[in-house]
This record gives sequence, C-alpha cells and structure tokens, in this order.
Amino acid sequence: MSNEWIPPSQQRKLRVDCAGLGIPAGRYVLPQPTEYLELGDGTAEGCDRIQAHFRGEAPLSELTEHEVAFLRQFFGEQVEEQRQRRQTYFRTRVPRRYVNATPDDTAIAWARAVAIDPAATRSLLVVGPTGTGKTHYGYSVLRALADVGSNSNWTALTAADLYAQLRPRAGRDSEAEYEKITGVDVLFIDDLGAAKLTEWTEEVTYRLINHRYEQCKPGIFTSNVPPAQLRDALGERITSRLTEMCERVALKGDDRRKGMAA
Ligand SMILES: Nc1ncnc2c1ncn2[C@@H]1O[C@H](COP(=O)(O)OP(=O)(O)OP(=O)(O)O)[C@@H](O)[C@H]1O
Ligand SMILES: [Mg+2]
Repeated sequence: MSNEWIPPSQQRKLRVDCAGLGIPAGRYVLPQPTEYLELGDGTAEGCDRIQAHFRGEAPLSELTEHEVAFLRQFFGEQVEEQRQRRQTYFRTRVPRRYVNATPDDTAIAWARAVAIDPAATRSLLVVGPTGTGKTHYGYSVLRALADVGSNSNWTALTAADLYAQLRPRAGRDSEAEYEKITGVDVLFIDDLGAAKLTEWTEEVTYRLINHRYEQCKPGIFTSNVPPAQLRDALGERITSRLTEMCERVALKGDDRRKGMAA
C-alpha cells in the first residue's frame, strides 16, 4: 500500500464521484486507510484504488464491489448527519402554516436531482389560481431537499418581501442584500407577478432571474398569473428566461381556503 494517504489539507482538491455513489453533491471528509482496512476484507490494493479514485485516476467502475460498498456506507453516515442538520434548518425556517407540507413524487424527484447535480436541474415554476397550494408546494420541495440530505442552503421569500428588502434605504447596502439572495443554492420566490411591475421591480426581478439563469442555479418560483398572461405581468425578458429554465408544475382545483372555512 502506498504510504502517502491523503492529508486533510489536500483533501480539498480531491473529488468523490457523488453521482456514481448516489449521494448528494458536496464536500465530504474522506476515509483514512485504517477505516477501510478495519472493515474485514479491505485490502491495501483497495486502499490504493480508493485513493486513485479520489485523485480522479480511477472511476468507480475500477473499484471492487466491496470498495464501492465501503464508500457508500462511509459517505452515507455523513449524508445522514447532513440530513438531520438540514431537517432542523427546514423546521426552524419554514412558516408555521407550511410546517407539515409533504412533498409529492415530482417534488422528491426534483430534490434528488438538485442534491446530485444542481446545475443540471431545471427550476420549478409552480402555477395555479389563488389558494391551490403553490406556497405549500414550494415548502414541500424544500422539505424534500432536506429529506434527501442535500447540502444546498436555501432562501424563501415572496416577491413583495424581496422588493421591500432590496429597496434602497439609507444605511442599508442593498447591493450586499441582493448578492446574499442571489448567491444562495436554492432560491424560492413566491408570488411572482402578484403586484404590477414598476420599472424598478422589473429591473430587480430581471437581474435576479438572469443571474440564476446564467449560473444555472435552481429555484422554485410560484405565480398565480395564468401562463398566457405571464409575459404581460413579468415582461418579455423575464418570462423568456423562466420558460427556458423552468419545469412547470400546474396546480388545479378550487381555492383550498374556502374548503377550510368552517
Ligand atoms: N397538498 C396540500 N395538502 C394539505 N393542505 C394544503 C395542500 N396544499 C395547500 N394546502 C393548504 O391550503 C391553503 C392554501 O395553500 P397555499 O397558501 O399554498 O395556496 P397558494 O396557491 O399559495 O395561494 P395564493 O395564490 O393565495 O398565494 C393553506 O392553508 C395550505 O396549508
Ligand atoms: Mg401563496
């Protein structure tokens, strides 16, 4: 076995084939050789192959089943810790009304895709009339992200709150606020197009959507504007980008709030 196992200071440069192992993309602490060797039939050659994998010199297909199973189990423990942290993050940040929002299959599949390869995952545009459950759906997706152990951080806010937060004010650096919002891994903007756009809100929305579009960063957007009227409500440039970057989830039915009124 090669003696030079990878010191933690160099681990940053190394890669794990997360997609191949079926674990969320992210940075993981790598195993030490002893951890592998202690696992019964781990061999010195296996250590070398695992190390070569981290250096990008050996695809998973060159590892034995035992080695791949070891990696799955080793990283699985870190995914589990991450899942618990993210579930707590979700519970502390979700508005109380949506705390029990439960993801459907589409939401779970989307969350898995974001966890594995966020840049390759189209955003979600959740549309439907008032009260059909768009906000509920958006939070259910964020819950699914936590449940799959994704390490993505997220920000959720309504378009109205977004504008309020970014409006230039004395003593507030709105550009820094903007960068904080636009840089997040997953951005949930609720109620796009709910208020009539002004030149300023259109510009803010455009900058934000365009940035996410260019960086291929996934988001969840909701709107109760009917698809045919989206261009009028949001303008050509924003709608064109949303159309390309989003998968549409259409919620139908009656206003659920009416059914709840006793
Ligand atoms: N799938 C669901 N299961 C149970 N309750 C739901 C579901 N979807 C929505 N609700 C409940 O229905 C109510 C309305 O949902 P929500 O606020 O998500 O609607 P909305 O489409 O965002 O409405 P608006 O267009 O006015 O923003 C909420 O009380 C929500 O918790
Ligand atoms: Mg809503």
